[in-house]
Parts: sequence; structure tokens; C-alpha cells
Amino acid sequence: MSKSTLADLKIRPNQRVLIRVDFNVPQDDTGKITNDRRIRGALPTIRHVLDAGASAIVMSHLGRPKGDPKKDAVFKLDGVAARLRELLGTTIHKVDEVVGGQAKSAAQALKPGEVLVLENLRFHPGEQKGDADFALQIASLGDVYVNDAFGTCHRKDASMVAVPQAMAGRPRVVGFLVAKELDILAQLLSQPLRPLLGILGGGKVSDKIGFIKKMLSLVDKVLIGGAMSYTFMKAQGVGVGGSRVEADKLDVARELLELGKGKIVLPVDHLVVDKIDAPQTARVIEGGIPDGGIGVDIGPKTIASYGAEIQKAGTVVWNGPMGKFEDEPYSKGTRAVAAAMAASKAVTIVGGGETAEAVEEFGLAEKVTHVSTGGGAFLEYVEGTPFAALAQIDDRQ
Ligand code: 3PG
Repeated sequence: MSKSTLADLKIRPNQRVLIRVDFNVPQDDTGKITNDRRIRGALPTIRHVLDAGASAIVMSHLGRPKGDPKKDAVFKLDGVAARLRELLGTTIHKVDEVVGGQAKSAAQALKPGEVLVLENLRFHPGEQKGDADFALQIASLGDVYVNDAFGTCHRKDASMVAVPQAMAGRPRVVGFLVAKELDILAQLLSQPLRPLLGILGGGKVSDKIGFIKKMLSLVDKVLIGGAMSYTFMKAQGVGVGGSRVEADKLDVARELLELGKGKIVLPVDHLVVDKIDAPQTARVIEGGIPDGGIGVDIGPKTIASYGAEIQKAGTVVWNGPMGKFEDEPYSKGTRAVAAAMAASKAVTIVGGGETAEAVEEFGLAEKVTHVSTGGGAFLEYVEGTPFAALAQIDDRQ
């Protein structure tokens, strides 16, 4: 790792350590946290700081608040702070502002071993503008800056870039979660155990063009599933019935098929229904999907052949579900891929977002090598996008 990590730094007692985490966790309509993986992922960093006799000032965004206090109430960080309190079992203070007198005095009053959680960074307009004055106010709270927010590393928000910039001269390191993500991705990108197998799914080709191109340059084979397979099929002139297709991306799909000639594998059979909400009409169709049919999952032959490919692989990297897995009757393909990865001896990497949530939901997250906490960040990092946030971290001496 070329960047300084928390392991390289001696945290001194009484220091105030400013930790940018990604506690942008999924919530239900009432604001209840439905998956706390990102909070649990940051615990080693926070514990390390507290164990050294320092205090931690923890900051994050949550959701995409629009500036309407009533609607945005669901994005307050109180629930996240409460969850952190349960997990850490230590004193956690929470303030209702990001910067200002209250935040400042709460930071100054922190005792060794205590944590202060600031309010949702995106409640302040300066955060997404990357505002320098806003960043200076946050920077004044800490003696050390730690970036442990891998999921946000592709953003240029003030807390990710302008704050560490404003803290030049004070130590700026990545935390244990970011260090682990970068290590595993470095291995994937530079010396993967082969055969290297990619598995790509999800709804849209267009969301992931750069990622797919990069994957095609890296992998020995890539297995396609999810609705994106219907776009690839249609691009080849194969019937897709009424399945979800990106009609304006057929040229892109053709270009990718050409680029991945000999590497791209499409499903040979599909679970097809008459209507999305009519699972009783589900049947397996081989080859093209006739008119009136809607593809919702990969079929049993595809499940078997993808499972066999996973078994032969040295490394597997997976992003995107194989079907409409959130509906139980259509979740078999996604479940089967998750189970095959869990059973495999390969280095198995699950690239963030809904794929990570699926693997967690199936109870298999501990059985794969790595589940990334990054969604967009994972895709962009693999694609090779330079991250301004990481550029602000001190180089390792
Ligand atoms: C994510 O969930 O991808 C990160 O937390 C970034 O959130 P954003 O897409 O709202 O910037």
C-alpha cells in the first residue's frame, strides 16, 4: 500500500481523531437501519483510536437529503449513532449540527475513549460543494484525519477532499476498512489467481460500461446474468419477449460483445413469467424468450454451468444480481451464485451495493473472501478512476 494507514501511525492519548466513515446505510421508510454492515466495517478503526486513549469525531453522510427539514428528518444520524453505541458499548455523543458552536464545544469536551458523531454532513450545503470554509471548520476539530469511508472515496465532497487538504501538516491516513479494500483490489487488479472469472448482473449495461470494459481486459471469462443479459441478447438478434431491455444501448452492447468475444457467456435458459407480479406463471425457457414472456432470473441449466465455472476459478469477482432477487420466487439464480462462491476455494470478491446486500441476506457474507462496502466506489476503482480523496492521504514513508 503506497498510502499511510492507521497501522503506520502512533495515535497519542488525548488526541482528537477525525474519522470520515461511510455510514450511508440502507433504511426502511421509518428510518430504521436495515443493514448495518458499513457501521460494523468501521469498528476496528474506531476501536483502535479509542484503545490508544484518544477520542474519535465521526462524520458521515446518509442518503441524499434535499434541504427540506421535514422530509430530511429520516436522514438524521441519531439512529446511526444509537447503533454505533450498541456495537461499541462506549460513550457516544451526538450533535444536531455539522459545524458551529455546538459541534465545536462537544468536540472540545470529548474525553479519552469517547466518540462524537456529527450530524449528517449533507445537511450542510458546503459538503457537496466541496466548500473550503466549511472544510476549515471541520478540520479545526481534529489532530489527525482518517479516511475510512471506502464507499464514498469516488466523491469529491468536502469531508473527503477539502477537509484532509485543510489538514495538511497533520497526519492524514486511511483506516483499516479502506486499507483492506485497497489491498484486495490491488491483488485483483495486479496479480489475481487464475482463472479469473467475472460475474456481471443487474439491470443496466449503461451503468457499468467502463467497469465491464475493464473486466473484459482483466478476466479469462465473464458470466452475464440479470436484466443486462436481455440487452445483450437483443443486441445479437435473440428474442427477449417483454423483458427489460435498454433499447438505446444495443450498439454499446454489440461493441462490448465484440470486445469480449470468446470471453462473454450469456445465459442459456431463463425463468420467464407473463407478468412480474404473477410468479405462478413462471416457467423455464431455453434460448430466446418468446413474445409475451418476461425474463426474471437465470434458468437451471445456466445455474449449473455458472456453478461449475465458479468451482474451476482461482478468483471470482461478482457484481450485480442474476435476476429480480428481491422477489423470493425469482431469487434462485442469485442465491445459487452466492452459494457457489461461498463453497468455492477461490478468492471470492463481492462488489458492493445490492450484490453485497443479497449475499448478506442469504447469510453467506462471512463465507466469501471479501464483500466490498463500496457500490459506485468499487466499480470506479476497478475501472481505474483516480480518487481525489485518496490523493489527499499522506504517502507512506
Ligand atoms: C454509496 O452508497 O455509494 C456512497 O455512500 C455514496 O453515496 P452517494 O452515491 O449518495 O454519493
